[in-house]
Amino acid sequence: MEIFADTADLQEIQTWLAYGVIDGVTTNPSIMLANGVYQLREGAVEIAKLMGEKPVSIEVVTDDRDEMYAQALDIAGWAPNICVKIPIINSDGEPCLGVISGLSRQGIKVNATACLSFNQAVLASKAGATYVSLFAGRISDEGVNASEVIRNTAGWLAMWKYATKIIVGSVRETMNIQEAALAGAHIITVPPKFLRQMVDHKYSRFTVGQFLADGLSAAERMRDLGLTSSADAAQLKNPAK
Ligand code: E4P
Repeated sequence: MEIFADTADLQEIQTWLAYGVIDGVTTNPSIMLANGVYQLREGAVEIAKLMGEKPVSIEVVTDDRDEMYAQALDIAGWAPNICVKIPIINSDGEPCLGVISGLSRQGIKVNATACLSFNQAVLASKAGATYVSLFAGRISDEGVNASEVIRNTAGWLAMWKYATKIIVGSVRETMNIQEAALAGAHIITVPPKFLRQMVDHKYSRFTVGQFLADGLSAAERMRDLGLTSSADAAQLKNPAK
């Protein structure tokens, strides 16, 4: 399973990349705005450069499907690792499947975004999307079990041997990551604050603190006894040897 960072924050991306745990980045216009990235092209290119060969999803900003296609062609040319996010439908409910399929046939990697159901994911895969983004948090907002949607979609893709990968997004709490992973998500895109919560644990902090204190106490005893190495200490415990 891969983990992507759901952010446009360069420092966060750099940090999690250096930790060796992120395999890609996803953004959307709301994330860009929240992270103060107003120049879409400039921001996208910087992220793409930082990520090397790892995929970076950048979304089109229009409701018009012809314009979507044109924007996608432009965006895809900004860097070789950019993958274009095309919504499954526009805000009027018109299918964007033609855009997804046209771009995919041209060899452009498409992330079919804003998918909230199994059926949408199926059609996006049929249209040739490289990724389908299932928005777990927003699925739950609608009173639907997101894990079930993820599990069913993953099962269907495997059954019919589709290469499309599920990206689970819209993570709202740390537990959602575990739920998505166990439901068969191929990729989970995680906002950095949840990556931080994933690694932290108050009892780990306590445990590490306890070992550190005991290690330092042992070193202090050695000093008190005038010993310099653990061989000296062993000799003291077992003088016959
Ligand atoms: C991922 O690709 C999406 O852009 C993101 O996770 C959406 O999350 P939201 O529901 O918090 O807007």
